[in-house]
Amino acid sequence: MAADERKLDVDGSHVIVCPNAEAASRLAADRIAAIIEAAERDRSKAVLGLATGATPETVYAELAARHRAGSLSFQKVVTYNLDEYYPIQPLDPLSYRHYMHQRLFSLVDIPANQTHVIDGTVPAAFAAEHAAQFDRWIEADGGLDLQLLGIGRNGHIGFNEPSDLSVEEAINLPTRPVELHPVTTTDAVREFGSAEKVITQALTVGIKTILAARVILMLATGPRKAEIVARSLKGPITPTVPASLLRTVAEKVVWILDEPAAAELG
Ligand code: F6R
Repeated sequence: MAADERKLDVDGSHVIVCPNAEAASRLAADRIAAIIEAAERDRSKAVLGLATGATPETVYAELAARHRAGSLSFQKVVTYNLDEYYPIQPLDPLSYRHYMHQRLFSLVDIPANQTHVIDGTVPAAFAAEHAAQFDRWIEADGGLDLQLLGIGRNGHIGFNEPSDLSVEEAINLPTRPVELHPVTTTDAVREFGSAEKVITQALTVGIKTILAARVILMLATGPRKAEIVARSLKGPITPTVPASLLRTVAEKVVWILDEPAAAELG
């Protein structure tokens, strides 16, 4: 562990606090590279669940730099992205397929048919079936060795938004079509440019699939995430704060934060 990192146990959750967002991203990239190496050794491939958004951008830049430097190959890596807007074309600059292509897939040696992003062009009548198929593909690949997550300001993980389901129901949610929460659509104005342009539906990997990953890395940086990080780690375990459900599998989750995101942990 680097000298300037702090390791915390917050009511049983493993938390690592880094001095800044760059250090947090580097640590996440270190963990991802180690998981790729271990999974390839144990089962000759590594299956990664990936997130988009602003937070992991520097993680992908770091992974791409390691590839360029010759220290990391993605030839035996298989990826499944957490979510996609619906409907959206893969070539739309706002699609998560495009995001991944720009920030990682086109910069490393991953074979195109090993990268999976939910298809935002499936006809509406088949969207639920396509989502269910995504879960079957992950299972057929032997499950996720790693799920990388970010957190929404309302506590969403993937696009699993706050709900009034029971904990039991929420932790069994499959990959499926969803309506986005007002906090999420408000935050998406940053990407879409105006409120009218924001796409309000999506397909998301379900909480059940996320929780089944063998390792879960939650990366949260910046002061805007401080309140929801504290509610997720220290408040009740409840579907109204979806990230709090990660505490049902706390032993395999690592929260990587920067100091501003950790500010309300006390
Ligand atoms: C993205 C995703 C979302 C984001 C979350 C945080 O694939 O699933 O849950 O991780 O909305 O987004 P940023 O990093 O933009 O704050």
